[in-house]
Amino acid sequence: MLLTPHCRSPASPWPDGNSLGALPRSAPARVQEVVEREWGEHLIGGWRKDGWMTYPERLGNKIAKLIGAGAGEVIAVDTISINLFKLIAAALALKPTRRTVLTDTGNFPTDVYMADGLIQLLGCRHRLRLVEEDEIEAAIDDDTAVVMLTHVNYRSGRVYDMAEITRIAQMKGALVIWDLAHSAGAVPVDLTRAGADFAVGCGYKYLNGGPGSPAFVYVALRHHDRTSQPLTGWLGHADPFAFDLAYRPAAGILHYKCSTPSILAMAPLECGVDIMLEAGIKRLRAKSMVLGDLFIQLMDARLDGQGFRPACPRRAEARGSQVSFHHQDGYAIMQALIERGVVGDFRAPDILRFGLTPAYVRHVDIWDAVEILKEIMDSRAYDRAEFKERASVT
Ligand SMILES: Cc1ncc(COP(=O)(O)O)c(C=O)c1O
Repeated sequence: MLLTPHCRSPASPWPDGNSLGALPRSAPARVQEVVEREWGEHLIGGWRKDGWMTYPERLGNKIAKLIGAGAGEVIAVDTISINLFKLIAAALALKPTRRTVLTDTGNFPTDVYMADGLIQLLGCRHRLRLVEEDEIEAAIDDDTAVVMLTHVNYRSGRVYDMAEITRIAQMKGALVIWDLAHSAGAVPVDLTRAGADFAVGCGYKYLNGGPGSPAFVYVALRHHDRTSQPLTGWLGHADPFAFDLAYRPAAGILHYKCSTPSILAMAPLECGVDIMLEAGIKRLRAKSMVLGDLFIQLMDARLDGQGFRPACPRRAEARGSQVSFHHQDGYAIMQALIERGVVGDFRAPDILRFGLTPAYVRHVDIWDAVEILKEIMDSRAYDRAEFKERASVT
C-alpha cells in the first residue's frame, strides 16, 4: 500500500520521521502566503483578520482528532519541555498529599530534567522516582501523585498500554501525563477512551511541522476548571487586552497558553496535520506495521552475523512507527548510511533508529535501505575516521 507521496523530499530518498519529519509539499506556499499576504499586507491586522490569535486552539482542535481528544482539549503552543513543566505543576497541585513523580529509566531526558527542575523549584518536597519500564504498574503507590511516561519509547519503540496504565494509576489515586512525541501521527492514540488526564506531544516529528515546530498540550475536559499552571503569561489571561495587572486565568484549555503564538511556525505544522488527517491514522498504522516487519525480516535474512541485535519489539503491535537495532559501531554505521541517503538517527549508547514514516516511506525503500546497509557492512565502508568523529547533534 503506497499512500499519496505528499511529503516526499526530492533531496533524500528516505527522510526520517523520528527526529524531523519531511517537508510537506503544501508547506512552502502556505508559509509564503502567511509571510507575504498575511504579515506583509495585513500587518497587525493579521491577529484578527487571519485568525492568528486563535491559531493555537484551531490547530489544537485538528491535532485533537489525531489523538482521540475532544474539541477544546488541545492547544498547539510552546515546546514539550515547557508544556510538561505546566502539566507536572498542575498535576502536583491536584494531589497535595502525595509526594512522588514516577517515571521510567528509559524516558527521554528532558521529561526527567523538567520534573527534577520543578521539584527543586518547589523546595524539594517531592521526589522523582525512576523504575524499569516493567516495574511501573507495581511502583504506583499511595504516595504517587503523577505517573509521567512516554507512550512510544524513543529508543526501542516499545508502546505502553495507555488505557491499562491510566486505569491502574487512577485506581491507585494518581494522575498520568503521557508524552506523545513518537505517537502523534505515528500510532493510533485514543486519549478519551483511555480516560487520560494530561498529554504533550511535538509537531516536528511525525506531524511534519518543521524544525522548531510548536508542540501541543492536552488537558482532559474534567480537569479544566480545577487546574492551574504556573507559567501565567499574558495570553493565558481571561482578558489579555485589558492589561490588568492581576492575573485571571482564561477558561478551559486557554489558560495553558502563555505567550504570543509562533505564527510562522504554525503554518507548516497545519499542512503536516492536514495530511495526517487526510491519510487517516489507521491506514498509516497498517502500512507502518508492514514496513517494520519487512525491515526486521530483511535484517534477519541479509545481515545475520554482522553484529546487529534488535532494540525494538519484534511484534508489530508492541512497536511504534520505528525499528531500532543495537550495534557496537552504531554511530559510524549511521553516518555511512546517511551519506548514502538513508536518513536515520543514532541514539546513545549504541542504537540505530529508523523512523518508518508511512506517508512517504515505500516498501522498496526498506529493501534499498537494508541492501545499502549490507553493502556498508560487507565493505566496512563505515570504518572511516570521519564517520567515527562524534558530531554535537546526532
Ligand atoms: C519523547 C520526547 N520527549 C521530548 C522531546 C523534546 O521535546 P522539546 O524539544 O519539544 O522540548 C523529545 C525530542 O526528541 C522526545 O523524543
